[in-house]
Amino acid sequence: QPHDAQQLASIASEVAFTAGERILELRRRGVAVAASKSSEVDIVTEADRESEQLVVDALRAERPDDGVLGEEGAGIEGTSGVTWVIDPIDGTVNYLYDLPVYTVSIAATVPDAAASADGRRAIAGAVFNPRTGELFEAWEGGGSRLNGSPVTISGKRELSTALVGTGFGYTAERRAGQAAILARLLPRVRDIRRTGSAAYEICSFAAGRLDAFYEHGLQPWDYAAALLIAREAGASVIGIDDAMPPGEPGFFAADPELVHELRRTLLVP
Ligand code: IPD
Repeated sequence: QPHDAQQLASIASEVAFTAGERILELRRRGVAVAASKSSEVDIVTEADRESEQLVVDALRAERPDDGVLGEEGAGIEGTSGVTWVIDPIDGTVNYLYDLPVYTVSIAATVPDAAASADGRRAIAGAVFNPRTGELFEAWEGGGSRLNGSPVTISGKRELSTALVGTGFGYTAERRAGQAAILARLLPRVRDIRRTGSAAYEICSFAAGRLDAFYEHGLQPWDYAAALLIAREAGASVIGIDDAMPPGEPGFFAADPELVHELRRTLLVP
């Protein structure tokens, strides 16, 4: 049975806003690193955990039959066909340092083996930055909005004057691969940006503030909502698996012409 994507987007927005306000309030009291994950620089704060619990409880209260998959471990099987994919704080290192670029990201997904490596397709999503008050949202077929106003990608087609966003993982091995890719790209573009929250950066690209975005090694909770927002804002998104070490899915998002030029530039020679 078809799901009401617009209604799912409004739930995602409402819950992202509530969780965002909460992490902001917690940040004012100071921040505690609770644990590290893939390396000592890959951290989880108490606020990540509290935000995830708040989001899970709020979604389950509204839609008890849905599944939930969260960065900090939430894994609930649902029966409705909808699985929420959530990042309670995307940009945790910015949160630790009080840099004003961190977001709550919430996507409603449905099974679709052809859509992505994890076999899901986002049909609604919201990304909220509580430090700037920016709420990005989209639902399939409905376009993308920033605080209620429609946004579209810049549409830039020339690589040489493109401002390109990206990000890096947390392990030394992954960073070495990412540095090699960056070394090929940096001489050929206007410049590179790396804000520290992939969700925020992809949404900034969706709103025309960057001309392209690429990263490899992201997890579904980092990109599920934001990539839908980018697509609905006119972006073409393609995988770059063949440029990457095996098992390291990556993607480019940009104007359809620029995405192909970027991909050609970054393919392993
Ligand atoms: C990270 C951010 C960062 C990206 C990393 C992600 P986290 O997520 O999105 O921009 O480059 O790959 O792991 O750890 O802050 O939720």
